Amino acid sequence: MITVRLVQGDITDQAVDAVVNAANSSLLGGGGVDGAIHAAGGPEILAACRELRATTLPGGLPTGEAVATTAGRLRARHVIHVVGPVYTTGEDRSGLLRSCYTRALAVADELGARSLALPAVSAGVYGWPARDAADIALDAVLTTTTTVTEARFVLFDRRMLDVFTEALAARR
Ligand code: AR6
Repeated sequence: MITVRLVQGDITDQAVDAVVNAANSSLLGGGGVDGAIHAAGGPEILAACRELRATTLPGGLPTGEAVATTAGRLRARHVIHVVGPVYTTGEDRSGLLRSCYTRALAVADELGARSLALPAVSAGVYGWPARDAADIALDAVLTTTTTVTEARFVLFDRRMLDVFTEALAARR
């Protein structure tokens, strides 16, 4: 049974087995959660990402996919990088957003990670409307078969915490 927890805070501070990163296809860093994870975790994470690009992922990580690296100096043991879709009104990309979470859970299962810290993927730079992003994230995590026991959504600000809290309450 997976338990969802909603907390306000910085995802880089979490004492969990794995932290999910809202990365981009290059895996070579960026702003938002990605920038914070690389800054707090140190150069080992970037080195591991470069190694992936040089070996198994020469074209980068596709949107909706997940891959794990070391977590460097973070308290977590692993970072699971996912690439959310950029929001657009011209096309329904919600399946790709859902896939970020289901693939992250599958990678966590492979790693034996039981506790995960997750951000609101695509809800920042990639422009996804907050409530829709929350509905997709919660549905994916609560309906996927996994050995993960805790999915801790770490929301950066009060507004996003409130949105996730309302979305979770609406499911009950
Ligand atoms: N802890 C928790 N949440 C955070 C943190 C943090 N330290 N920092 C930001 N957020 P974003 P995306 C929130 O933009 O939309 C990067 O440049 C933020 O307020 O990090 O998937 C990548 O390299 C928002 O609610 O991810 C990609 O190019 C949520 O995390 C691109 O941004 C996600 O915002 C990915 O964009």
